[in-house]
Amino acid sequence: MEKKADIKTLLQSDELGKEVVVKGWVRTKRGSKNVAFIAMNDGSTIKSIQIVVEINSENEKALSNIHTGAALSVNGELVASTGSGQKVEVHAKNIEILGVADPDEYPLQPKKHSLEFLREKAHLRFRTNTFGAIARVRHAMIFAIHKYFNDNGFYNIHAPILTGSDAEGAGEMFQVTTLDLENIPKNEEGKVDFSGDFFGKAANLTVSGQLEAELAALALSKVYTFGPTFRAENSNTSRHLAEFWMIEPEVAFFDINDDMDLAEDMLKYVIQYALDNCMDDLEFLSKRLLEEEKNKKAEERSMELIEKLRFVLNDDFVRITYTEAINILRNSKPNKKKRFQYVIEGWGADLQSEHERYLVEKHFKKPVIITDYPKEIKAFYMKQNDDGKTVRAMDVLFPQIGEIIGGSQREEDYDKLYTRMKEMDIPEESMWWYLETRKFGTVPHAGFGLGFERLILFVTGMGNIRDVIPFPRTPQNLEF
Ligand code: 4AD
Ligand code: MG
Repeated sequence: MEKKADIKTLLQSDELGKEVVVKGWVRTKRGSKNVAFIAMNDGSTIKSIQIVVEINSENEKALSNIHTGAALSVNGELVASTGSGQKVEVHAKNIEILGVADPDEYPLQPKKHSLEFLREKAHLRFRTNTFGAIARVRHAMIFAIHKYFNDNGFYNIHAPILTGSDAEGAGEMFQVTTLDLENIPKNEEGKVDFSGDFFGKAANLTVSGQLEAELAALALSKVYTFGPTFRAENSNTSRHLAEFWMIEPEVAFFDINDDMDLAEDMLKYVIQYALDNCMDDLEFLSKRLLEEEKNKKAEERSMELIEKLRFVLNDDFVRITYTEAINILRNSKPNKKKRFQYVIEGWGADLQSEHERYLVEKHFKKPVIITDYPKEIKAFYMKQNDDGKTVRAMDVLFPQIGEIIGGSQREEDYDKLYTRMKEMDIPEESMWWYLETRKFGTVPHAGFGLGFERLILFVTGMGNIRDVIPFPRTPQNLEF
């Protein structure tokens, strides 16, 4: 008995005449009275293999039970295909139905379904071409990121997911407790008494692994985390998730320029990796995007997907300061004509996604890195510039996405960090360990956070972040 082969392997095989076993799910079945053609997919590749079955009195009944979505095990012979689009097909000798799919109930019929509809069928959407392609590209990007850092001498660190501190100081955290919510213990001041809680203090899900990565970088020099992070911001946008994955490299002896070089080099490496390893899926996703946008006006359409990926590789990213960015935006047409939702009035304004995209897509037509933001709109740990107004932050902005990376050089001076924490009401009690690293062998260091799903949005050309993570968590949405 032959062992089961992946469809991906079989489609590349030239062992014609070989006896094979294939298992997978039916995408379509068509045919005549005498012969049936079944397109079967097992997820190993976007391509399906064609199964050809001669219909006879013995298998007629079984074949009539095979519909889209059914799982099959097929024994047969690998033969050259006369049809277009594939080299080989399988002439079935025996077909076993492993699992039926009732066509009156199975939601994924062979026709176009909207992405919104498929979000409600997240338990089945992996079986569509689009979501199969996204899952494979996502995997390839995870692998490429680990490979990039490993090849460059970085060590992967697991930062904790449960935490007693707020890394960004922004307070958008999910609380974790084993206290009885029907009967919350209170102290004399009427505040929640966490002393009887699991950890004896308030606990949260982490918003970032950065602070722990910094501790590791101040010993191992080059480290990165790649973990889930959680944000309870109530922003229902196509770019925000409540649970997302973040890659956070942190490097001792790096300044902000080294940090930008690393960000640019890493992004180019992983995008090149996608072009080298995911072409079948990217070609499909490119066609999907063209189809989706065919009714849009030419100037509203995105750049063709593969061309867009190559385009990022060809040029250096533009590097400008926040102050330069504000000047460009203030004098821009959409700002003067008040077409931005948030009109830029002056220095100090936070940049919204519409401003970021204007700079990238309209003004520079290249990825842009903005540095030296006002300290008021950035986190407490960023290195303060001598002007007393700005910090050594850097955000990488991408077409279609806006901010894909946020990072900075870190404040390594104990007194400056301490003062900034006091100014921003960051509680010293929960951060003493972070401060101590600035007392013992402190060095300049820098790092950044790449939003993994934003990278996948870019590489797949999908428009909504809910479609590039298998099971999205967003406000009012915790199904599956
Ligand atoms: O800019 P952020 O908040 O930076 C940090 O968390 C730093 N601790 C990173 C560091 O310096 N080590 O987040 C980093 C990136 C953003 O640029 C964005 O790509 C992504 O994480 N991100 C989100 N992605 C999906 N959903 C959300 N709600 C996100 N919030 C941030
Ligand atoms: Mg940010």
